[in-house]
Amino acid sequence: MLRMKDIIDEKDKRLRTVSKEVLFPLSEKDKETIGLMIEFLRNSQIPELSEKYDLRPGMGLSAIQLGIAKRYFVVVDEIEEGKFETYVIINPKIISNSMEKIYVELGEGCLSVNREVDGIVPRYARVTVEGYDLEGRKIQVRAREELAICFQHEIDHLNGILFIDHIDPKNPFKDKELYRAI
Ligand code: NI
Repeated sequence: MLRMKDIIDEKDKRLRTVSKEVLFPLSEKDKETIGLMIEFLRNSQIPELSEKYDLRPGMGLSAIQLGIAKRYFVVVDEIEEGKFETYVIINPKIISNSMEKIYVELGEGCLSVNREVDGIVPRYARVTVEGYDLEGRKIQVRAREELAICFQHEIDHLNGILFIDHIDPKNPFKDKELYRAI
């Protein structure tokens, strides 16, 4: 089982790697890693377990956050209390997006950024992501609002980008009025 210590911190330069496309069939090791990532994200969103294992709640995790420079991520979205929707997307690409942009009013977070960072990160309100599932079948997922933000955040990770990179420290709320807060 994964713990917080297994997730690398923003100070670790590996997070700046542009991850490599995955070739199919997926290795047993990657399948195992994906299973661990799903378990971690679920546990982190279940209060008793996040407390028990000292996990910071998180919705998404990319392989590079475990030091694995491969293009895949896992998102576990709590759609109602205790009920989760899981997404595993390999070699993801945004194939279409809304014009409208939104941001998380309380600030975006990341399991690799262990400090409070104020500021807005503009993201598309809606995206369609194309990629592959565990079996190498092509998939398309449409996402809006928080889930859309999460997908964009994770795809950034695969390109070595952190959410804090989108924030101008001198003017963290720049152009706020152009975007919708969620
Ligand atoms: Ni992150």
